Amino acid sequence: MPFYQNRAEDLIMDYYNENTVIYLDGNFVKASAAKMDLYSQSLHYGYAVFEGIRSYQTRGGETRIFKAVEHFRRLQHSAAALNMAYPYKTDQLIEATYTVLSKNNLQNAYIRPLIYAPANMSFSKNDHSHIAIEVWEMAPFLGDKLLRVMTSGFERPNPKGFKIEAKATGHYVNSILASQEAKAAGYDEALLNDINGYVAEGPGANVFFEKNGKLYTPSAGNILPGITRATIFEICRNLGIPVEEKLFTTEELKRADAAFFCGTAAEVIGWESLDGETFKKTWNESLSKKVQNAYINLVVTDTPLSFSEFEQKELSPKAGRKDAAKDKLVNQN
Ligand SMILES: Cc1ncc(COP(=O)(O)O)c(C=O)c1O
Repeated sequence: MPFYQNRAEDLIMDYYNENTVIYLDGNFVKASAAKMDLYSQSLHYGYAVFEGIRSYQTRGGETRIFKAVEHFRRLQHSAAALNMAYPYKTDQLIEATYTVLSKNNLQNAYIRPLIYAPANMSFSKNDHSHIAIEVWEMAPFLGDKLLRVMTSGFERPNPKGFKIEAKATGHYVNSILASQEAKAAGYDEALLNDINGYVAEGPGANVFFEKNGKLYTPSAGNILPGITRATIFEICRNLGIPVEEKLFTTEELKRADAAFFCGTAAEVIGWESLDGETFKKTWNESLSKKVQNAYINLVVTDTPLSFSEFEQKELSPKAGRKDAAKDKLVNQN
């Protein structure tokens, strides 16, 4: 399992129980009664697209899906990249997701929309798709753990062989292999290079490093350019921290002051070491830690775009707003 989730054995019963409700092709149904076609290209060939989204209980007590529009737009782009039918509207899916959360009494949750193929064992295009939206409880990560990261023996997929900017299920065989390899070697997580030997990303997260007051992250082209990565740019702009996208190697990364992974599930998680070599700064004195704090604030703040005020108002809860789901969405984006 990725570092930000529980151990596999803890999870078996945690995803759903007999009361869990999912969204399936326009209906709200019991997870235990839902069926998927065993003759689907999705199951046999890894031909499906998905999103990983989080919802949080805001300081005002509301449930808010973080960056909902961005995630559902990416789902649509992923489906288009794989020639999958996508007859869904973003606002309807967001509304359906709020309903699934509410039916399962969840506020702090992980949300997994999946677009999958109907029965068809050939490689041909389908005229329709299926959609499922599953949710399960996931508490916010408070940032106390630091990761021991290992440079993987696996590379990220060749962008000429895959639509790597799409969040396609088949790409995650690579993630599983790298993550399991790192754990078997006693590390917390893997870091993968691209096919040219430059640092790309983690199995399910983007990477940043800090050096002399500036943050660096791999350029787009060989990575999934994450929504959290874009949020880090937004945070840095507001905090006046310079950020640069560039190609770099693990050798340069090892000389950094600090480093972190970021992603929807991972949030912002600092590194203790890469291949056993620790970083110059302690996490708590790094700029990266400041970015982590800002991210934690952002996800639980009622009006996220007022972020530039965060520094002054740090940790002071704002009054809760009683807006409906759609209003939250408008204010968020
Ligand atoms: C391979 C990979 N890179 C990066 C990310 C981070 O993306 P995001 O911030 O949109 O969750 C993810 C997670 O979805 C991922 O699976």
